Amino acid sequence: MSIYLDYAATAPLRPEVRALLARCYAQDWGNASSLHRDGHAARMHFEDARERVARVLGAKVEEIVFTSGATEANNLAILGWMRDQPKGSHLIVSSIEHPSGWEAAEALTHEGYQLDVAPVDALGRLDLAAFKALLRENTALVSLMAVNNEVGSTQPIGELAAAPKKWKLHVDAVQSGLTGWPNLDGIDMLSLSAHKLGGPVGSGCLFLRQGLRLAPLLIGGAQEDHRRAGTSNVIAALALAEALEVTAHQRAEEAARIGGLREKLESQISRIGGAVRLGGERSAHISSWFFDGVRAEPLLVLMDLEGISVSSGSACSSHSIEPSRVVSAMGFSSEQARGLIRFSLGHATSEKEVESVGRRIGVLVEKARRQGGTEN
Ligand SMILES: Cc1ncc(COP(=O)(O)O)c(C=O)c1O
Repeated sequence: MSIYLDYAATAPLRPEVRALLARCYAQDWGNASSLHRDGHAARMHFEDARERVARVLGAKVEEIVFTSGATEANNLAILGWMRDQPKGSHLIVSSIEHPSGWEAAEALTHEGYQLDVAPVDALGRLDLAAFKALLRENTALVSLMAVNNEVGSTQPIGELAAAPKKWKLHVDAVQSGLTGWPNLDGIDMLSLSAHKLGGPVGSGCLFLRQGLRLAPLLIGGAQEDHRRAGTSNVIAALALAEALEVTAHQRAEEAARIGGLREKLESQISRIGGAVRLGGERSAHISSWFFDGVRAEPLLVLMDLEGISVSSGSACSSHSIEPSRVVSAMGFSSEQARGLIRFSLGHATSEKEVESVGRRIGVLVEKARRQGGTEN
């Protein structure tokens, strides 16, 4: 039996979502745009999902745009908003954004927009003073994640939301399942993804404040009020609604339980020579480390052989282990950034699993170190 500690990459389906999906695939397969009764039924389910998502977030129904996940939601927010602004407009993202936000922002520099990257401190938290110094008269967008996916650091979303501003604020709240989604006051756009919450991959949404216009990424259909063309994915939307509701309902209990398990794990890991834990104030589900003289790759392989699934930073880069951009941005060396090991816990993680990993991890680190790692 493998032990899965990679919830920040994706989470297993929650039982409630699995039951809903089984039901929906048997019954609710209509096209929500069709005029007949099956289409009507699908449309009712779709709008019910929208209402439920809006209720959980504290948004209006027309402010929810369903997407294929948070990569699309982040792209839509950043590219869609900026492309509707005059060329030369300015945007700011933090140095630790997920690639789906980071690369969208970088792409805009090739389209005549101006980008500044706001730094973070050694704990992976936005440097507010440095951020404020980057604001300009023509700043049109600031995009910041609420919880970083590699080290779990929480970001000062409240401060940015409360600031008097002409620019729009987009928040990537994908990893905020346990901390809670930010209050939407002062936030203009917010991205979510179902599969980090025990829903299926390929489902997410963008909260888009009423009255804001975006240049759509997908055209060729009137769905989502012309903001996102494509046949409505009714079942994905229902599964997102279910995952959000269950997450919100169980948050207090899960945050306490998972936080306790992480503490147990960390007390074991911290006994290993040369272990350095990353991040300060963090969401309860992430624990990221490097071990002096150990590269991530051999350690990941050794852990995998033992049936322990963890990852090195973001899932997308874990096939070829590049130095983590996030860890580099926090001021660590590229050797250290190559050693990032992320343990992430979730709704089905058990005490037994954590104890088992805690017992074995020291030996595995020593083995990886002996196999040869870095010079420092
Ligand atoms: C912080 C963050 N933003 C965005 C994404 C992308 O979400 P999705 O997999 O739904 O495209 C991820 C997933 O890795 C993430 O962790």
